[in-house]
Amino acid sequence: MDLLSSLPDEVLCHILSFFTTKEAALTSVLSKRWRNLFALVLNLDIDDSTFLYPEEGKRKREGVLQSFMDFVDRVLALQGNSHIKKFSVMCGTGVEPGHVSRWICNVQQRGVSELDLTICFGYNYFLPPQVFISKTLVELILMSEIRIDGLVEGGVFLPVLKTLLLELVEFRPDQFQMLLRGCPVVERLELVYVEWVPWDETVSSESLKFLKIKYQSSFRSFSFDTPNLVALDYSEYVAGDYPVVNLENLVIARINLLVTADQIKRAREPDNDLLEDHEEDVVLRLGNAKKLMSGIRNVTKLFLSPTTLEVLSLCCVAMPLFNNLTFLAILSHVDLGWQAMPVLLKNCPHMETLVLWGLLHCETDKCGDACDCISREDKGRSLISCPVEKLHIKRFRGTTRELKMIKHFLYSFPCLKKMEIHAEENGPTTFELPGMYEHVVEQMILYNELSSCDVQFMVCDSLYRKWTTAQ
Ligand SMILES: *[C@@H]1O[C@H](CO)[C@@H](O)[C@H](O)[C@H]1NC(C)=O
Ligand SMILES: *[C@@H]1O[C@H](CO)[C@@H](O)[C@H](O)[C@H]1NC(C)=O
Repeated sequence: MDLLSSLPDEVLCHILSFFTTKEAALTSVLSKRWRNLFALVLNLDIDDSTFLYPEEGKRKREGVLQSFMDFVDRVLALQGNSHIKKFSVMCGTGVEPGHVSRWICNVQQRGVSELDLTICFGYNYFLPPQVFISKTLVELILMSEIRIDGLVEGGVFLPVLKTLLLELVEFRPDQFQMLLRGCPVVERLELVYVEWVPWDETVSSESLKFLKIKYQSSFRSFSFDTPNLVALDYSEYVAGDYPVVNLENLVIARINLLVTADQIKRAREPDNDLLEDHEEDVVLRLGNAKKLMSGIRNVTKLFLSPTTLEVLSLCCVAMPLFNNLTFLAILSHVDLGWQAMPVLLKNCPHMETLVLWGLLHCETDKCGDACDCISREDKGRSLISCPVEKLHIKRFRGTTRELKMIKHFLYSFPCLKKMEIHAEENGPTTFELPGMYEHVVEQMILYNELSSCDVQFMVCDSLYRKWTTAQ
C-alpha cells in the first residue's frame, strides 16, 4: 500500500482505469485519498452481471437489483460534475428503465465522448432524447433491444460523432434517415440485426468510410448513397432492388449474399421452362445482385462467400469488368458450386493475388471451365487469360481431388510465380491416414521441381500457432 500511495494521483487514476467500476469502487473504501481519486476515473464500466451473477437465481433475490442501482447512483453522485470520457452500461430486465435513463443523461451532461449501451429490456425501452444531442459524443454503441421512434428534424445533433454501431435496434419509418442526417461527420457505421419498418432503406452519407450491414432481412429495396465509402462489409439477403448504388470510391468489399437452399436450386436451373411464377421471381430477385456488383466494380480487393458465388452465377452475362481489382478471395463450400468462377476470373484482368479458402466445391456443369472437375474440351479455359501471380490455398485437406486441382492450376495459370498451400487446421484431413502426409509432401516437392512456380506447403504448429513449411 505504501509503495502505491507514494505514486502521483495521475498514475493511480490511470491504474484505477484498468479495473471494472465495481473493483475500482472497492478501493474507495480504503481512504479519503482513494475516494477522491475514484471520483476522477474517466471510464465507467457498469455491468449488472458482475453484481447479479454468477450464482444462478441471484438476480431474482430481493434487493440485489436495488443494490446494483443504488451502487451506480452512488458512483455517479461521488463523481459529481467531473469530466467523463467513456460510459458503458450492460443491464437487463429488472433494472429500472428510469434509472438507466438518468445515468445516461448524467454522463451526457458531463461531456462523455464514448457511450456504449447494452440494454436488454425486450424492446420496451425508449432512450432518453438527450442521447442524440451531444457536442462531445464521438462513439455511440447501441447493442440494445430498443425501438427508435419519435426522433424529429433537429432532434439529432451529433456534430462530432465518428462511430455508430447499432445491433438489435428497431427503426420506425424515417427514423434511420433522421439519425444519419444528424451525424454529419460519421465515418464508421455498423448495422447488425437491425429491424426496419418499412423495408425500403437508403444509407446516405457524404462522410461515411466504413459500412457493415449484417443479418437484417429481406429488403424491398436498398440504396447506397455513400460516395466516400472505402470499405463495405455486406452480409445480407439480396434486396428486391438496388435503385442507387453510389460507391465511387470503394476500395475493399466483402460480399456475403445469403440464399435459401431452394433459391440455390433455382439458381442452378434458371432456364427451366417449367418454373412457376413465384420461382421466376426468385431468379429475377437474385439477378438483382448485378446492380450491386456493378456499383462495386472499382474495388481493388474483393472477398466473396460461397453463397455469393451461387447468386452470381445468375448474373454471369451482366458481370461487370473489375478493372482495378488486384486481390480476389473466394470462400468455398463442399455443397456450393463454382459456376461463377470462370466469368469472375475473366473479368478481373489485373488480378495479382487469388485466395481460395478451400478447394472442394460442388461439381456443376459450368465449373469445368475453371477447374478440372468435369472433363471437357475447354477444360480450364478461363485460367489461361488470368494474370494472377500469387495463389493462396487455405484449408487444404490433402485429398486426391485437391492435389489434382493444384496441378491443374500450376499448368493453366500462365503467370503464376508463387503458390502457398495451408493445411486445414480445424476440419478433417487425410493426413491422419498412414503415409498420406508423406505422399502430399512428396507431391509438393515434385510440383516445385517440375514447374517454374515456387510451391510452399505450410502446416500450422498447433502448439505455437505458427505456420512452417513442411518438408
Ligand atoms: C469507376 O471509376 C471510373 C474512373 O475513375 C469512374 O468513371 C466510374 O464512375 C467508377 N464507377 C463506379 C461504379 O464507381
Ligand atoms: C480504376 O479503374 C479506372 C478505369 O476503369 C481508372 O480510370 C482508375 O484510375 C482506376 N482507379 C484506381 C484507384 O486504380
